[in-house]
Amino acid sequence: MNNPTGMFALPARILHWLMAAMILAMLFIGVGMVASVSERHEWLLRIHKPLGIAILLLAVVRLAVRLRHPPPPLPADLPMLQKLAAHASHWLLYALMIAMPLVGWAMLSAGGYPVMLGASLRLPAILPASATAFAILRHLHGWLALLLLLTFLAHLGAALYHGLIRRDGVLASMVGGRR
Ligand code: HEM
Repeated sequence: MNNPTGMFALPARILHWLMAAMILAMLFIGVGMVASVSERHEWLLRIHKPLGIAILLLAVVRLAVRLRHPPPPLPADLPMLQKLAAHASHWLLYALMIAMPLVGWAMLSAGGYPVMLGASLRLPAILPASATAFAILRHLHGWLALLLLLTFLAHLGAALYHGLIRRDGVLASMVGGRR
């Protein structure tokens, strides 16, 4: 389907801003969790798990919305290298939005820990118990979180470059309003 409006579709914009807030919160909650040995650790973990699974579900919905409603084209005069960087970083963000929760879920499964969504809903294990797999996935979860943070910061920098320096309508196409 073509995109004649020059704007992202409304569901794409809602999912974008909702998930930006959720992912940013998850990065802070994750770091707060590993930095805390008090009862706050348990409290943060109880938020971290369901919020992470919600991000996984929304990422799948978002991917479907992305395939159904292609985004507006980037400005024709944008250098090819910047276009490539934009496309690569967007697909990397999609990959990380799906990989991060799956790695977290697999890590807890390998460690034999329950993945609870609330008081009584327990998700099935997606890996058999294995101390080695748990250790590898625990490290992977931390490294992917760092990659997600760096990609997020690059994405933010690019959005500000388009909105404040180039003023080419790219940021407006996600914020809404007139270009
Ligand atoms: C987009 C989704 C997610 C993000 C951005 C995220 C982010 C993080 C971050 C930043 C950390 C700290 C890493 C470190 O410093 O080593 C962390 C730790 C952790 N995450 Fe996630 N996470 C996500 C999804 C999940 C899910 C779905 C689960 C489980 C179902 C999970 C379980 C854990 C656990 C158990 C820890 C370690 C806590 C500890 O060692 O105290 N995460 N996460």
